[in-house]
Amino acid sequence: MLKPNIYPFMPPRKPIYEGKAKQLFEGPEPGTLIQHFKDDATAFNNQKRGTISGKGVLNNRISECLMLRLAEIGIPTHFIRSLNMREQLVKAVQIIPLEIVIRNYAAGSFAKRYGVEEGTPLGQPLVEYFLKNDKLGDPLVSEEHIFAFQWATTQDIDDIRLMALRTNDFLCGLFTGLGIRLVDFKLEFGRSFENGMERIILADEISPDNCRLWDMKTGQKMDKDRFRLDLGNVEDAYREVARRLGVLPTEAETAAQGKAEKPDIAPAE
Ligand code: TMP
Ligand code: ASP
Repeated sequence: MLKPNIYPFMPPRKPIYEGKAKQLFEGPEPGTLIQHFKDDATAFNNQKRGTISGKGVLNNRISECLMLRLAEIGIPTHFIRSLNMREQLVKAVQIIPLEIVIRNYAAGSFAKRYGVEEGTPLGQPLVEYFLKNDKLGDPLVSEEHIFAFQWATTQDIDDIRLMALRTNDFLCGLFTGLGIRLVDFKLEFGRSFENGMERIILADEISPDNCRLWDMKTGQKMDKDRFRLDLGNVEDAYREVARRLGVLPTEAETAAQGKAEKPDIAPAE
């Protein structure tokens, strides 16, 4: 079923998939998808729900910026180009059903699971795998599980680990330069089939929705933990991350976006 189009001057697109924070539509060319960032936020496996006004616009910008920087150092990503304030054109991939979490400091489920104080530095970056399965609550899995259930091959995991650790090194440096500590983050990878070649590329998004970012001076949380833990000022924190990255939308862009989403003239049928 076609959904109403919030961009009145664009033809309706075929929805492919709706996740908690994003939607995917059929792209204009074969092998492409349109990734739409929503303001919806969920936590604790969908038990807590809300909206963070303007989050979709900010995450679209932040993820674009980080994916482009990663592409510059040779990490293949699904990002093709930005389409508008909430949408980007991406390569269609077959998602590997794993959430790859890279941790530099103890926090969140890790701190709880192992009884470690939040903020404790880890001797070296730690890579964890979680099965992408909401019904099972995304359980932690080992490489043995991954191979036994054939969610990915040994070659896939070699490639994924290498890209995840390289991404971590790069992003740690980048965020440190902005006065932000990259505590941990989650990545997703997908299988891309192009010109008869199959390879694993970085997919999904990198934004304050799936990173823990702490201000290095004040220790303040600048990520989705503000929503998860009801700390308030969620949107301000996301805006500050975008501002430090140099991608905060201008007032004129924000006003134009508001008009596109709430047109005062009804779109032509
Ligand atoms: P965790 O400490 O709750 O396991 O989260 C680790 C990192 O992964 C943190 O930066 C938040 C991110 N994350 C997601 O992006 N999606 C999820 O569903 C969960 C549980 C965590
Ligand atoms: N995104 C996940 C969910 O709602 C959990 C989280 O980010 O904390 O289910």
